[in-house]
Amino acid sequence: MKRRTLIKGSATALLASSLPKLSLATASASKSGEPHYDYILTAEPATAQLAKSGDTEILGFNGQFPAPVIRAKQGQPLRVKFVNKLDEPSTIHWHGIRLDIAMDGVPYLTQAPVPAGGSFLYEFTCPDAGTFWYHPHMNSVEQLGKGLVGALIVEERERPDYHDVIIGLKDWRLKPDGSYLPLSLPREAARAGTLGTLATVNGEQKPVIDVPAGERLRLRFLNLDNTRVYNLSLRKDDAKVIAIDGSPIAQPYTLTSHATGAGMRLDVGFISPSKTGVEIPIYDMKGRFGIEICRLKTISNDKTTTPKAGVPALPANPIPTPQLDKAETLSFVFEWAGALSPSDKDGQVDHSFWLINRRAWTDHSHQHLPAPLATLTLGKTYIFELHNATPHHHPIHLHGLIFTVLESDKRELTPFHTDTILLEKNERAKIAFVADNPGRWMFHCHVIEHMDTGLMGYITIA
Ligand code: C2O
Ligand code: CU
Ligand code: CU
Repeated sequence: MKRRTLIKGSATALLASSLPKLSLATASASKSGEPHYDYILTAEPATAQLAKSGDTEILGFNGQFPAPVIRAKQGQPLRVKFVNKLDEPSTIHWHGIRLDIAMDGVPYLTQAPVPAGGSFLYEFTCPDAGTFWYHPHMNSVEQLGKGLVGALIVEERERPDYHDVIIGLKDWRLKPDGSYLPLSLPREAARAGTLGTLATVNGEQKPVIDVPAGERLRLRFLNLDNTRVYNLSLRKDDAKVIAIDGSPIAQPYTLTSHATGAGMRLDVGFISPSKTGVEIPIYDMKGRFGIEICRLKTISNDKTTTPKAGVPALPANPIPTPQLDKAETLSFVFEWAGALSPSDKDGQVDHSFWLINRRAWTDHSHQHLPAPLATLTLGKTYIFELHNATPHHHPIHLHGLIFTVLESDKRELTPFHTDTILLEKNERAKIAFVADNPGRWMFHCHVIEHMDTGLMGYITIA
């Protein structure tokens, strides 16, 4: 089947197209005694038509791009059998989920790498509803860069009255014939990261996404790219931010433009025009100018319900409230390590461009674990003072927890929950959380080349 036929249209179409490849288990035990899975997810080489004049050898979940959309229910167990059909080890990490450390998908730290030909059963409960995602945590420049990135949607216990539209953003480093350019250039890795050459939305260039007319839409933007920051905008006053990185906003506010770094998500609530055939462009803002990344187009709505009004807030997730008066404060400085490291005698470049608190994560760090960046006491509240002492953006991500952004010296903000904070150049920000999830949690920049060249570490909660 042509890839193109799989990647048309809305979230529903995306989900429907991915269903035949997934085994959806029933609640009952299987008679054969064989375990069953809500999903079976393979990682495998595949071919996709991304560029105009040639196919691209991708790595795809279930051989597809976009990857299957995984849907879980808040508070209910999700089981995914991961089958590694790559020729190298891999794992799956469930980005933003406050899960058990054994299921976090970090090689050596939380599980043995899943070898080529091997499999692993991920089984966990998602306590929070929202827009999350999944990706390997090994050889990430290549595995993510070539397509192993997918949406994980956790549905609320009581589903809010919204029509879902998934908008997955990913750039590819391709020549016009569809073959790859080098995925990472050291000189770029030492700066903002190597940008793609071909932008896709749900696997297509500037697609027109059909949406029902006169409907309350939930646009779920996912930045699945290795590098790029999107300044998302609809240029419409009635488009509201309803969630950031999966976490609902208590009081939805008008989306002017939202800086969404690699790995970050944004949910926007919006009532589509009641006429059919109306097109609504979506922009990546560069200053005052908007570059269109895709557009929505209204089609007839078969629902007969009365037109919706307003964009209600989503129900809050059960995130523990930090006890700020009893908090302990720790500081973290993100720094550039200095000049480009020369290649060694085998021509291998030892990249350590970045430091957290004067330490770089190296290629050996997974197997020869360094000391944690900090050890936290289970149940206690912590404030992290983050300082980006570099002239580049860094989307800083913490596994296994959701934190509150308290303040920043660069912008006015109302505290909000998130799993990733995009630090501007030279920005200082404070975040807080209750250390209620025991384990060794990765703490890293989500510009994949940055985490690969030093900007990674972990904290221990015990
Ligand atoms: Cu998407 Cu270690 O993270
Ligand atoms: Cu993560
Ligand atoms: Cu970074």
